[in-house]
Amino acid sequence: MRIIMLGAPGAGKGTQAKKIAERYNIPHISTGDIFRANIKNETELGKKAKSYMDQGMLVPDELTVSLVMDRFREPDAKNGYVLDGFPRTIPQAESLDTALRESGGQIDYAINVDVPDASIITRMSGRRACVNCGATYHLQYAAPKKEGVCDHCGDTLILRDDDKPETVEKRLSVYHDQTQPLIDYYAQKGVLKEVDGTQDLEDVFRQITAILGE
Ligand code: AP5
Ligand code: MG
Ligand code: ZN
Repeated sequence: MRIIMLGAPGAGKGTQAKKIAERYNIPHISTGDIFRANIKNETELGKKAKSYMDQGMLVPDELTVSLVMDRFREPDAKNGYVLDGFPRTIPQAESLDTALRESGGQIDYAINVDVPDASIITRMSGRRACVNCGATYHLQYAAPKKEGVCDHCGDTLILRDDDKPETVEKRLSVYHDQTQPLIDYYAQKGVLKEVDGTQDLEDVFRQITAILGE
């Protein structure tokens, strides 16, 4: 099963993608997580990506596409994946289509997690992310067992650099300009599914499993 998660920054794409990956036994591929791991390890890619991410801008398509294509070559991605944060522009979606045509695969579902802008800012300011494994928490809605400590790996939880309110606003405007057009793109392909992302985490997941099947 090949799934794309669509939705504004903070809509809950990562939260739901992790649950999908676990339930359906497919890898969770998050371009944001891959960039953050590269920033943490101070790689060349990380240095390039950071300057864009900190400003709430998109990393250039050619960097992003080649990174995803490399990830697809790993054996666990053979039978499917859930893509979180990719594609994010029409050219990225077209590159994905070309790659799928060449390998004989197809996107089964593009799930749009719909949350109005007004709710996004609150969600982002309460979000905490693990510096090591990328697990995501929320001070109110999905608190870790021990404050400031990751449940999964025990490492430190931080507020992401790009979760400051000014940067969130920039990310939202970039989303509306460059990423929202993908909703129509996948609707035209007949694979778009809408879920109401304002509901509680588990209720959003129930809407998704109703689409994907138990
Ligand atoms: P990325 O990491 O993908 O960030 P994003 O799209 O801005 O999305 P987020 O990760 O912020 O939100 P999310 O939808 O995953 O929400 P989450 O589940 O965490 O990208 C970061 C940057 O990298 C980009 O700005 C760009 O620079 C670059 N980049 C990445 N991919 C790129 C690409 N393809 N091309 C170019 N550049 C790229 O949830 C948010 C919070 O809300 C959490 O605290 C969570 O616990 C909470 N929450 C989730 N669901 C609910 C719910 N139902 N109710 C209450 N709280 C909830
Ligand atoms: Mg995310
Ligand atoms: Zn962790």
